[in-house]
Amino acid sequence: MGNVSMLVVCVAVIFSLVSVSQTAPVSQTCEELLKPIEMKTTDLLNGNWYKIASLNTQIGARTMVKLLMKNMWSQISPMPLPNMLSNTFYMKAWDGSCASYNFNMTLEDNKLKWTYIGPMTSSFLSTCPDCILLLTIFTIHGRFHTAMDLYSRRREITAGELLHFKTQADCRNLSSVIVIQSTTEHCPVTAESIPNLEENLKKMVYIMEREDVNLVSVSQMAPVSHTCEELLKPLEMKTIDPLIGNWHVLASSNNQPGVRTLHKLGMDSLWSKFSPGPLPNTLTDTLHMRSRHGPCFSFNISMTLEDNKLKWTNVVPSTSIFLPTCPDCLLIQSFTTVHGTIYTSLALGSRRKEVTVHELLAFNAQVECLNLPRPIFIKSKTEYCPVTTEQNLEMEDSYRKMIDSSADGFVMAAFRVTDYLIEKAECFGLI
Ligand SMILES: *[C@@H]1O[C@H](CO)[C@@H](O)[C@H](O)[C@H]1NC(C)=O
Ligand SMILES: *[C@@H]1O[C@H](CO)[C@@H](O)[C@H](O)[C@H]1NC(C)=O
Ligand SMILES: *[C@@H]1O[C@H](CO)[C@@H](O)[C@H](O)[C@H]1NC(C)=O
Repeated sequence: MGNVSMLVVCVAVIFSLVSVSQTAPVSQTCEELLKPIEMKTTDLLNGNWYKIASLNTQIGARTMVKLLMKNMWSQISPMPLPNMLSNTFYMKAWDGSCASYNFNMTLEDNKLKWTYIGPMTSSFLSTCPDCILLLTIFTIHGRFHTAMDLYSRRREITAGELLHFKTQADCRNLSSVIVIQSTTEHCPVTAESIPNLEENLKKMVYIMEREDVNLVSVSQMAPVSHTCEELLKPLEMKTIDPLIGNWHVLASSNNQPGVRTLHKLGMDSLWSKFSPGPLPNTLTDTLHMRSRHGPCFSFNISMTLEDNKLKWTNVVPSTSIFLPTCPDCLLIQSFTTVHGTIYTSLALGSRRKEVTVHELLAFNAQVECLNLPRPIFIKSKTEYCPVTTEQNLEMEDSYRKMIDSSADGFVMAAFRVTDYLIEKAECFGLI
């Protein structure tokens, strides 16, 4: 697939296209707002369109767009046959990589028809000037889904125009509009095209619809509406009492090379038992980890709470602060010094074994505010390790060896490569 990021493929599950009409005040009734408009000829559709906002009820679609896609634009051109159009879309993935994909569409009976994963039929709804709004109803694996996609000749539309679209979504009882970062730089027309996109997407859709990945991918929910300042404001933690007990580790992000690789290849589940330590304001964190191959092991880390911060030395010195999070959750931002470099991590724990998609999105927003790598969502495929799990006393020693070896530039580079590959494979649902 050459230079084209697999990720881009991954991102492309969802899209559609395109309507031109006059702006309507939001005071219209739902019936008026959802009334299809006429589109007799392809003339108004030709040219370039920036994707402004969308929603899609397909499982996983929201997560994909939200976490992976930066922006997208479409180039529509006439074909020799009347009422046939060629559509090439250019998509920029979260990591800046670009890709394009081309397919044909026909305009028939005021509706646009094309095939993408399955047969799609879109009608046009009223929208802003220089905009098109497509309402697409489609079936995948016997389930009905709805997508609404707003495109514009402009990179940016007014707040009123966006509100109009959101009202239309509300009228269909769909509230989770995603606004695309359409003012950021778009991909050039030279972006490499993705071969076999549809085939890969079919696989992807199959994976996304499996139960075990649904955790992060239910479609309906409200956007996170807090500022980074609010999301990153440290919490007070005067005593160890709120920390005592069991925490399931559900998501994390870490910029230390190798951590993604270890998590993804080495670990199936993780939970922490915090118990009071021998001295006031000290804790023992007993980590229970199930490895990817099945066996469980645990190990202790001694910690001290001081000045609203948790400190420990498990080979390398670390300091943590607590950030705002969901009820029954614990969000820890840690700073770890390895060979003179300070790495940051964010780990989300909960008393619950699962958190809601909205809670995960809030976590993701915090990861974005800190400019940390895409999070790893940890969802055990098996049981969590029992509390009776045997201690692995060599754990600290193994960790020390890993830290020592990472002083070597080659090992560090190798870790960066495996982290990168794993991130791509994760996106494909391969691991
Ligand atoms: C689009 O239609 C044209 C003309 O029928 C055909 O040559 C071309 O292969 C089609 N493109 C795709 C991507 O199917
Ligand atoms: C939206 O929900 C309301 C109330 O539940 C219902 O009356 C209406 O028919 C729904 N509209 C659509 C388009 O599903
Ligand atoms: C680990 O900590 C727990 C809880 O404080 C304690 O019961 C256990 O003995 C410790 N294990 C080791 C090997 O220190």
